[in-house]
Amino acid sequence: MKKKIHFGWFTEYGPIGWDNPDATEGDWRQPELYQKMGRLSEKGKFDFALFADHLGITSSFGDSIDPYVKYGLNGINHDSTLLAAMVAAATKHLGVGTTVSTMLTPPYGLARQTASLDHLSKGRVAWNVVTTGNVAGFLNFGIEQPEHDARYDIAEEYMELCFKLWSSWEPDSVLMDRKTGIFADPAKVRPIRFEGRYFKSRGPLNVLPSPQGRPTIIQAGASQRGKDFAAKWADAVIVGMHYLDDMKAYYDDMKARAAKFGRDPDRLKVFFIVKPVIGQTEELVARKLEALRNPPESAIHAALSALSSRMNFDLSRFNLDEPLPPIDEKDIMGGQTTLSRFYTAGRRPTLRQVAIEEAAGNKGSIAGTPEQVADQLQRIMETVGGDGFVVRVNVHEQEYMREFVDTVIPVLQRRGLAREQYTGKTLRENLMEF
Ligand SMILES: Cc1cc2nc3c(=O)[nH]c(=O)nc-3n(C[C@H](O)[C@H](O)[C@H](O)COP(=O)(O)O)c2cc1C
Repeated sequence: MKKKIHFGWFTEYGPIGWDNPDATEGDWRQPELYQKMGRLSEKGKFDFALFADHLGITSSFGDSIDPYVKYGLNGINHDSTLLAAMVAAATKHLGVGTTVSTMLTPPYGLARQTASLDHLSKGRVAWNVVTTGNVAGFLNFGIEQPEHDARYDIAEEYMELCFKLWSSWEPDSVLMDRKTGIFADPAKVRPIRFEGRYFKSRGPLNVLPSPQGRPTIIQAGASQRGKDFAAKWADAVIVGMHYLDDMKAYYDDMKARAAKFGRDPDRLKVFFIVKPVIGQTEELVARKLEALRNPPESAIHAALSALSSRMNFDLSRFNLDEPLPPIDEKDIMGGQTTLSRFYTAGRRPTLRQVAIEEAAGNKGSIAGTPEQVADQLQRIMETVGGDGFVVRVNVHEQEYMREFVDTVIPVLQRRGLAREQYTGKTLRENLMEF
């Protein structure tokens, strides 16, 4: 039997794509565009929508927030949890993922908010666990940023505490029996009295056990430490890789790490970020590819600002038309492996080429007519082993999503490679279905 492919939609609640000449009419600050895109994702039988989030306007590129403010770049973000709730209200089956920092949100607050949203969405919430690589959020909260691996140590304890809070009510503790007047059995609801190195909490959670028990956990750390963290805690990981060999190595690595933690590797799903170039004719595809190969200077600037932000590392001081000098990953406080995917197998692109590749967003170089795109997605999954893709599309690209859902997904469905009906009641059930 062929293994089906999972799909997700990945974006953020921010202006990204606001100046696209083909932008869909509508206001990204309001819920309607996201809700429409959520319903499109649901039409494509996607597992989830995931909203990235950042807690401050970055100044990583050239040590100033000005370019980010001027062009509406990374870090201008509205709250992803509130958006997830609005999208949940407009959909029935689609999982809704919010991004929340383990460094800048108290664990009790996170556990309570996600459990509440799990109730409101009837079991569809996911939490994208981030340790906050960029310093901007720390500057806003007035907290010093711990170094890269120390943030993961803190996150380990954070997860332990949250998992205890989410299970502080036994699943059968709630009776709500009107005849006896008993709401819940106190013997089955217990304080947790957590006292760790970084956090303390008495518990129990003051939210009833939620449909999923705990939110579906998503993670996107790609360093050695980040991968171990994900392998231990996550239900799904998302990662951006450009080359098939790297995808395969990453997939095998994550599954092996999950097994090392005593988990069934199949309970950790790997999602690759993609944005295939789709055209209804080969001529249209060629035209779209040509445009991506020659982005305007502003797109190159935006791509470098985005990379600097993700790495928390200033790329403005390097020559655009030369390859970057070797950079020690230890000097990068944010995503340590952000650049490595451009340099795989001895490639030495100039910084401009890196920016063009980043601006195109077409990881895996997938392009073609719907049949050809489906062929390439299928080939990646068959070579790598699974499990799925998140399509990185901003909310201004409704036409793109419509084309993907209406023309690529049906090809995969006909081949038995994409979901035709939701079978699970909760996000985790759908995620673990195949
Ligand atoms: C695909 C992807 C998406 C991410 N989304 C966010 C985000 O929305 N907010 C955030 O603060 N960090 C985000 N991160 C950062 C990671 O969660 C992580 O903190 C950072 O990459 C540093 O860890 P690492 O060196 O293990 O990758 C993202 C990383 C990746 C690779």
